[in-house]
Amino acid sequence: MTRILILNGPNLNLLGRREPGVYGSRGFDDYLEELRHLYPTLQIDYYQSNHEGSLIDKLHEVGFDIDGIVLNAGAYTHTSVALHDAIRAIPAPVIEVHISNVHQREEFRHHSCISAACRGVICGFGLDSYRLGVEALRALSDR
Ligand code: DQA
Repeated sequence: MTRILILNGPNLNLLGRREPGVYGSRGFDDYLEELRHLYPTLQIDYYQSNHEGSLIDKLHEVGFDIDGIVLNAGAYTHTSVALHDAIRAIPAPVIEVHISNVHQREEFRHHSCISAACRGVICGFGLDSYRLGVEALRALSDR
């Protein structure tokens, strides 16, 4: 069975309640249930943390065994060289995703510290960005 991790960074535990005009009004647990139903042959693990070090620990923990990671690093996307290095340190392909189109937003969101370490980037499709991230990993494993 293919095993994938969805890894969410800071403030993404508040999805559904946080700035619904930007991130929508659906909670992530509900969305994750739908995603797991959509891909019954995949094992989709989930982890969220508001702490940079915990996200790095999780990448180290799973990154040598798992088939791929869909990562929404939240605001750490724009600041974290340490996350960049952690992504580079592991063999698992990482797809960077964002719910919003960060390029249509404030300038400080236009730069990503992690894109260059990731296999690819998906942004701007709402929660569907995560499904597209899973599809990208599936396409990679079909190669
Ligand atoms: C986000 C975009 C980031 O700029 C922001 O800090 C987030 C969420 C997104 O999914 O659109 O927390 O990664």
